[in-house]
Amino acid sequence: MALTGKRILIIIGGGIAAYKVLDLIRRLRERGASLRIVMTAAAKEFVTPLSVASLAGGKVFDDLFSLTDETEIGHIQLSRDADLLVVAPATADLLAKMAQGLANELASTLLLATDKKILVAPSMNLRMWLHPATRRNMAVLHRDGVLVVGPDEGDMACGEYGPGRMSEPPAILAAIEAALQGETRIALPLRSRSQETDGPLAGRRVVVTSGPTHEPLDPVRYIANRSSGKQGHALAAAAAAAGAEVVLISGPVTLPDPVGIATKHVETAAEMAAAVEAALPADIFIAAAAVADWRAAEAAPDKIKKSTDGAPVLQLVENPDILATVAQHSEKRPRIVVGFAAETTDVLAHAKAKLARKGCDVIVANDVSSAADVMGGDENQVTIVTKAGVEALPRLHKYAVAERLVARFAAMFKAMLKDGSDA
Ligand code: C5P
Repeated sequence: MALTGKRILIIIGGGIAAYKVLDLIRRLRERGASLRIVMTAAAKEFVTPLSVASLAGGKVFDDLFSLTDETEIGHIQLSRDADLLVVAPATADLLAKMAQGLANELASTLLLATDKKILVAPSMNLRMWLHPATRRNMAVLHRDGVLVVGPDEGDMACGEYGPGRMSEPPAILAAIEAALQGETRIALPLRSRSQETDGPLAGRRVVVTSGPTHEPLDPVRYIANRSSGKQGHALAAAAAAAGAEVVLISGPVTLPDPVGIATKHVETAAEMAAAVEAALPADIFIAAAAVADWRAAEAAPDKIKKSTDGAPVLQLVENPDILATVAQHSEKRPRIVVGFAAETTDVLAHAKAKLARKGCDVIVANDVSSAADVMGGDENQVTIVTKAGVEALPRLHKYAVAERLVARFAAMFKAMLKDGSDA
């Protein structure tokens, strides 16, 4: 794959595998990529900045407090100019800093300040790789959406054998190419002052539901749908970034509340329904929550005990359909009501049927069959279904999906105002 026009920032960490990065740099340049290189202080113990700079065809950055670098480019710019950041070798120390959000020298500061995806190629002794601290850090980085290539298993420089060897340059190159095929920009879930007044949804009120609901069977057990809340929370953030006043009503999720958004936490569908009703009137309602369809007719006050008579029979009753209720609200129907259809088969047919059945204006359909690999992940591929037609968006980061959806809703809202009489 040609990488002409692609800008890659390579951060070289201090590990024995640093020498392999010279080969990676050569391969990337052969494909036309434009490179900027940062070296940590430890990296310079393994390869010289001079050899790296000669191969990369430019200067090597290594100092957070360099007055010349800061006036010429600035460290924030350095982290934002790239399409992708690549950390190779990613040492245990650098990965730990990333997981903690430390920023005490140039490399870690860039990794915290960037708005682009990061690919790491871990490299360390196998005990360091298998240490619970590194396991924990890798789990955090995975949740944060950091891409990982390797490490390989094999002989180590220290004489041991096992996992921890940095991937070979062709494998890292393939991972870079794969990453660059998708969206690498990660939108900031924040609104600026100018967006507050000039954004396409300035002065508008948007209510979003997100996450699952938990329906108790007894004090320790519950029924729930699978939902991370990532897409719903991203939609709330994107609506706020477009200038709207946003109320986010969230079921139980492990995500932090989006910055600057009033977030109401609920547990059950009944609580979510009440919170939505209280949040109306609104201009746009986005039902991104995966609401449980049923709840126990009566939740047991004490833990249901196992018995020799076999499994208990659950008596379920239907939950209120929040989306349908809002879409068919006699007094407070928002101008735009958006539902989601997470399906595993016949996605479009179900979405079209749902549009009519619920009475909403838009259904955002997504395929959550295991082949689509969307549930809980950072990316999503959705199709927008309205009465007017069907539009499929590419597979994108959930923030990017949210931005595009909100832009569509804002355009629809504007068109409706033009058709209607009031503003
Ligand atoms: O009917 P189904 O659950 O497939 O529809 C999904 C859409 O309806 C989602 O937008 C979801 O948030 C919404 N919904 C709701 N209340 C329910 C069930 C689903 O708002 N009880």
